[in-house]
Amino acid sequence: MEAAHIHVVRIAEFSWSRLEPSENHFDFDWLERAIDLAARHGIVSVLGTPTAAPPAWLTHKYPDTLRVDETGHRAVHGSRAHGSVTSPRYREFCRRIAGQMALRFGHNPNVVGWQIDNEYGYANMSFDDVTLHLFQEWLKAKYKSLDQLNQHWTTSYWSQTYDDWSEIPLLGEDREAHNPGLRLDWSRFVTDTWADYQQNQIDVIRQHVEPRQFITGNFMGFFSGFDHYVMSRPLTFASWDDYVGSGHVDPAGNGLTHDLTRGFKRENFWVIETQPGAVNWADVNNFLNRGEVRAMAWQAIGHGADEVGYWQWRSALNGQEEYHGTLVGPDGTPVPLYEEIKTIGSEFAKVESSLRGTTPVSEVAFLNSYDSRWAIDFQRHTTKYDQIALLKDYYRNLRPLSQSIDVISPDAPLQQYKLVVAPDLNVIPEDLAQHLLEYVRNGGQLVLGPRSGMKDEFNALLPQRQPGFLADALGGRVEQYYALEKDFPVSGEWGEGEVTIWAEQLKNSAPDAEVLLRYGKSNGWLDGQPAVLTRKYGKGRITYIGAILDEKIMATAAKWMIEESGVTPVFGPVPDGVEVCRRVGSNKRVFILINYTQEQRHVTLPRRMKMLLQGAEGSALDLPPYGVEVLEDNQ
Ligand code: GLA
Repeated sequence: MEAAHIHVVRIAEFSWSRLEPSENHFDFDWLERAIDLAARHGIVSVLGTPTAAPPAWLTHKYPDTLRVDETGHRAVHGSRAHGSVTSPRYREFCRRIAGQMALRFGHNPNVVGWQIDNEYGYANMSFDDVTLHLFQEWLKAKYKSLDQLNQHWTTSYWSQTYDDWSEIPLLGEDREAHNPGLRLDWSRFVTDTWADYQQNQIDVIRQHVEPRQFITGNFMGFFSGFDHYVMSRPLTFASWDDYVGSGHVDPAGNGLTHDLTRGFKRENFWVIETQPGAVNWADVNNFLNRGEVRAMAWQAIGHGADEVGYWQWRSALNGQEEYHGTLVGPDGTPVPLYEEIKTIGSEFAKVESSLRGTTPVSEVAFLNSYDSRWAIDFQRHTTKYDQIALLKDYYRNLRPLSQSIDVISPDAPLQQYKLVVAPDLNVIPEDLAQHLLEYVRNGGQLVLGPRSGMKDEFNALLPQRQPGFLADALGGRVEQYYALEKDFPVSGEWGEGEVTIWAEQLKNSAPDAEVLLRYGKSNGWLDGQPAVLTRKYGKGRITYIGAILDEKIMATAAKWMIEESGVTPVFGPVPDGVEVCRRVGSNKRVFILINYTQEQRHVTLPRRMKMLLQGAEGSALDLPPYGVEVLEDNQ
């Protein structure tokens, strides 16, 4: 590890049976020896609390600590994430092990921080009476009166009216059949439950550790089991596990996910786990190409990661993940990828001081809302509707033009952005609409995608038409939406092309609302009708795109958005297949260039810059296949 310039390890995240071999008997000596040994080689440790894997003695003696699935079956021991997030007894055991670890290692100079649990049990709930009661209590605290709940959920529909809190059911096996209001609240309840589970451990750790030790949690990109903004709030910083699975890295998709994670706290983050070549859980566990792991590591740094960690170092001799990629084999000697990791390590060491105190800064923001994500996913209306794919479409076209994008929660401050794009903002209650309108009035450019402004915070339809509280500012509205069986033509200021999967028939009511695209001959209803509206509002502009656009039109639309909003690229033109990232600090600017292709690429720099990896200076460079360069810009 030392030879590969590895400076940090994350350990113990599944080791409960070794840390507490029997109830209330702890053995931390082995862990301390490991921490000491690492420290002797210049390596600091992050400790994972082992609560994603309760030991057999615990679950055997206290079966109520095991979670129950939707069909009523209690989990059996032998896998992981089998604990019940709502079991008071399980919470108590979690608190005790985390507290004991904190007592022992909270002042250890070689322990730099903590990771709570591991991937938070994939947000799995226990479908038992404890959870049912908690859910009912949660609803009571939220709505205060059943009248309120009945009204907001429109429970009189299908005779669901509740006269007693105890009548409200748990979202179970038949979740598709449930009330949309209940489903949205259930997702929020799941979020609050996992946030509380996390807080239970944070509180006890904080009691015993030095403030310099950080606390993080490892998220999973676009996983939507809980609201990541809520979960991130008490963490020092967010982290995520970046796995490609089958195939190869998609620079846009992966870059977008880094930006998403950076947006959880609007701060730099860690890639606390990533793929050492191959995983063991995908359809085809192919190995990343030589050089690709290095390109990915630099992409993480470029998008604001301050650490990249490989899961895992060495194969365990048995256990479920024998086939997973590692840096050394079961014999403890390096596998071929080790050399690439060593290169990454030495490069990180070279540029560390230049990157210190820097972070990506953007003029463009994408809005990501879990409420909207859930609301659309519960009622997609067409199975083809994929919000992440739509987000990626926008990103794939806008990222090369701006060369930096933030992904943030809709309620985040917006004034720093020239352009705000919300491809999926289905839930726009009045206060959110006011926040967006204020941004536009002050000169912001807001672009909304299809299905925007349809729902309130209870997942009920707004009594006005889309985009709801924004319709007046837009000077137009949605007359009707259509799930498409086949693509339809559109044409207008953005050229000619097709729309796919979803199309909305728009209508402009204000005389100054411009139509940028119209549908061609399609289903009769849409023929000749507006597909895109835009209108100046205050000092800014609001644009509504009522359909999913094909690649060609999307590319023109992206150019239009960039020009209208005056966004400038952070670097300048780079060849296809090359990504540029920028990190900015007080009086420093660092660019990272990554060539994802398997061919050489020539890049002309906007001015003379210092090439930190090559140790040269110049105004042009050649990037070999999967090549990387880090540039210091002193202008
Ligand atoms: C997840 C887990 C790890 C490991 C890897 C394998 O990210 O956190 O424990 O199972 O996947 O890819």
